[in-house]
Amino acid sequence: MSGFVTVARLSDVPENTLLPIEANGVKLVLARSGGRVHALHDQCSHEEFPLSDGELDGNQVTCLLHGARFDLETGAARALPAVKPVRVYECRVAGDEIQVNLD
Ligand code: FES
Repeated sequence: MSGFVTVARLSDVPENTLLPIEANGVKLVLARSGGRVHALHDQCSHEEFPLSDGELDGNQVTCLLHGARFDLETGAARALPAVKPVRVYECRVAGDEIQVNLD
């Protein structure tokens, strides 16, 4: 069974921006970069701090609190002090709708 739900419109997330959303009780950050949209759990793996308050730089998001960086594609930590990945959710665009698989 597919767990894709519509979480935002594509026009809500201009290129090179982050958008915090909540879908079915899950806090996510949508990140649009290079024409693609990614969905990650909206919490740094270092401490409890929202990645949506951070900065987008190419295919990485930087946590504002201590500077950890995460790969948008895989969620892997790319810079200390974070060492653990953040969860990445499958994301697709259908027309003007951004849909995320919350399974
Ligand atoms: S809370 Fe994100 S780097 Fe420390």
